[in-house]
Amino acid sequence: MYVLGIETSCDETSAAIVRDGKDILSNVVSSSIKFHSKYGGIVPEIASRMQLETITQVTDSALKNAGIKTRDIKLVSVTNGPGLLGSLLVGISFAKAVSFTLGVPLLGVDHIYAHIYASALDRQPIPLPFVSLIVSGGHTSLFYVKDFDRIELLGATQDDACGEAFDKVAKILGLGYPGGPLIEQLAKKGNPKAIKFQCSGTQGALNFSFSGIKTAVLYRVRAQALNRQAVCDIAASFQEATTDTLVKKSLLACKMKKTARLVIGGGVAANSCLRDKFYQQARKHGIALHFPLKELCMDNAAMVAGLGFRLFKKGHSSGLDLNAVF
Ligand code: KG4
Ligand code: ZN
Repeated sequence: MYVLGIETSCDETSAAIVRDGKDILSNVVSSSIKFHSKYGGIVPEIASRMQLETITQVTDSALKNAGIKTRDIKLVSVTNGPGLLGSLLVGISFAKAVSFTLGVPLLGVDHIYAHIYASALDRQPIPLPFVSLIVSGGHTSLFYVKDFDRIELLGATQDDACGEAFDKVAKILGLGYPGGPLIEQLAKKGNPKAIKFQCSGTQGALNFSFSGIKTAVLYRVRAQALNRQAVCDIAASFQEATTDTLVKKSLLACKMKKTARLVIGGGVAANSCLRDKFYQQARKHGIALHFPLKELCMDNAAMVAGLGFRLFKKGHSSGLDLNAVF
C-alpha cells in the first residue's frame, strides 16, 4: 500500500512515498533555512510562505522519484501538530485537497510520534513495548510506547528543548543556525573535560532542563576573551554535559519501565557523540538500541507516511475537518 506523507511543521516542506509503512520509495525535503539564517532562528511567516510556494513541486518530485502515479496513492498522511500554525495549515490544506481529489482516506499524525516511528523505516519492525527519547529543536521527551496509538509521556523538558539549547549556545558562540551540527563540528577539536558544565536539576527524575546550562555558557563567554581553542572547548564541554543527561535519563526510564529496548529520534539524534555514548551504554546495560538513519533524524515526510500507515491499519483516520494542533 502506497502512502503519501506530507510534513510542514517547521521550516521544511517534505513529501514522501512509503510502501507498507516500511519501504521509502522517495523522501523529498526542501528547507527554507537559508532565508532564516540571518535572523538567527525560524521566522514563521517566511516558513509558511515558502511552504505554500514549494509544496506542489515537492510532492510532484516525490511521486516522480518513487515512480508511481497519483492513482496509486491509497492514503494521505499529514503532520497536524505540534508545530508552527501557519506551516501546519499549508500541509493540512494540501493533504485534504489531495485526499478529496483522489477519493482516498486522510490521516493527521503527531509530529513527535512520527519521530519515534523514524527508526522503523527501512528496517525490521521494532518489537513493542519500548522506551523512546525524542530530542529535537522543539521537544525533549521520554515516552513509554505500548503501541503507536498507546503512548505514555514519562518526562519532558521543563524549559528549553535540547536542540534549542544547541541553537542558542551556537548563537552565543557566534556560529550560524541551526547550531547543533556546528557545535558538533567544533566539539571534535575541543576537550569535553575542559569545563564542568551541568544540566540543572529537575522536578521529576525523567524531566529535563537545558536553560541553566545555556546561561552558564553565556556567563563563561562574557567572562573572558576567547581564542579558537577556548570556543572548541566550550562546545565540547557543553555537548558532553547535555548528551550525558540524555543518556542517563533514558537508561533510568528503561529501568523504571523494566524495558530493555530504547528508540531514539529527532534532530539531535543525528549527533555522533550522542550516538556513540548511547551505543556504549546500551551494550553495557544489555539494552537493544534503535536509531533512525541519520537523514531520517531531521524533519521529513517518510516518518509521517510510515506512522500514518501503521495507524490506518489499526483503524484510525481523519475527516476533512482535520485541524492543526499546535
Ligand atoms: O527534529 P528537528 O529536525 O526539528 C524539530 O522537530 O525541532 O530538529 C532540529 C534540531 C535543531 O535544534 C538542530 O540544531 C538539532 O536538531 N540538530 C542537532 C544536530 N543536527 C540537528 N543537534 C546536535 N547535533 C547535531 N548533529
Ligand atoms: Zn521534528
